[in-house]
Amino acid sequence: MAPSALYAAVVVATASYAAAQQTLQFPATPLNALSFPKPTDAPYQVYPASVPYVRGPQTGYNICNSTTEGPTSDCQTMYFNGLDDFCLWGPPNPNTTIGDSEGEVVAHCSKKGHGTRILNNGLFKSAQILKTDQYWMITGTIDQTLINIADGDPGGELDSGGQDARGNPIGGLVYSNAFSTDGSPSQIQWWTEFIGSNQFCLKICKPGGNVSGYCQHTLDRIGLAYNCPSKYTIGGGAPDGVFETCDSDLMGVPGVYVQNGQTLSYQQPAETVPIGDLPYQPTLVASRNCVTTASTALFTDLNAAPTSSPASTSSGASASPTGSSSGASSGSPSKTSSGSPSQTGASQSGSDAAATRVSVFATIFGVFAAVAFLA
Ligand SMILES: *[C@@H]1O[C@H](CO)[C@@H](O)[C@H](O)[C@H]1NC(C)=O
Ligand SMILES: *[C@@H]1O[C@H](CO)[C@@H](O)[C@H](O)[C@H]1NC(C)=O
Ligand SMILES: *[C@@H]1O[C@H](CO)[C@@H](O)[C@H](O)[C@H]1NC(C)=O
Repeated sequence: MAPSALYAAVVVATASYAAAQQTLQFPATPLNALSFPKPTDAPYQVYPASVPYVRGPQTGYNICNSTTEGPTSDCQTMYFNGLDDFCLWGPPNPNTTIGDSEGEVVAHCSKKGHGTRILNNGLFKSAQILKTDQYWMITGTIDQTLINIADGDPGGELDSGGQDARGNPIGGLVYSNAFSTDGSPSQIQWWTEFIGSNQFCLKICKPGGNVSGYCQHTLDRIGLAYNCPSKYTIGGGAPDGVFETCDSDLMGVPGVYVQNGQTLSYQQPAETVPIGDLPYQPTLVASRNCVTTASTALFTDLNAAPTSSPASTSSGASASPTGSSSGASSGSPSKTSSGSPSQTGASQSGSDAAATRVSVFATIFGVFAAVAFLA
């Protein structure tokens, strides 16, 4: 009797020790269901290191202020309030791929006052906000090396889902006044950013709207054209130097398409399976009431362009309207060689350069996502 009681005690003790030490794969509540209504409601870290996860700790923090603001900020709380006040997730260190940094990206903002890093002059070549009552979306063209992304990196998706439901970046929070009732920024639980190939898209979905439709997180490998259809991501691009805000019709929910009168839903194949032919082409919807603003008026807080920057006009806030008008499609021709040939070929059927970019984006993202997951 004594030995078995002792044995039981040991079993219980061992089990509770194991439970205390257990490394979790998923949180009890996914990041996109955690509620921190205002920035001041955010904890220091959404995922403090005291609770260990398979994918590692949150690298930055969510309380950001004048002390944290500047080039070494690891703030992981960002904003999207308008063309003159928004942030992008980008790597903390120069010359990094999105694949290598997706869990650790930090907020880089166009405006001071959020406790973040400040974006660099020359980063933006063009940008367009499309406003709807379900989401706001900003897309445009950039020199991605000015936000620490390696030249030529096709990039990937950063979102409030992530492979372990803790987001990419892990613990990233987004606020906006787009849908808030009191005019000050409120939490956006469902958001997604695609960045790479010198293009970007940031989309925030209205709380209570069709967040899992318009801001879904499952089509990471098919890229910007399908997730963020705009004049910059499909249809061969648009001229550089334009910064505008427009009202827009709703895009189709990414992945949903009609074939022979039937509404179908595209499912992305497993990471190991090539994307191949997509069953539909993304569509550019109508927009109106566009208001154009000079970049010099929008980006007054940006850092001076790095001195190593190639022959750009170095004076003033030049998110350069003077830039060549070669257009968005000029981004990195060399990248076509890195895509899987079958896939690049397959995607060519419908649209032109954009399709190529999408397929390369998809291929590389698939590879690194698999690697990142194993890491
Ligand atoms: C500023 O942010 C840092 C980092 O999150 C935090 O430790 C500090 O307490 C904050 N300061 C104030 C006054 O809130
Ligand atoms: C970026 O990193 C790559 C690979 O480590 C290296 O070959 C390249 O020279 C770096 N580029 C810059 C601009 O530092
Ligand atoms: C969101 O849109 C998708 C695709 O149209 C639809 O299947 C789904 O029911 C919608 N969800 C909500 C909550 O409206």
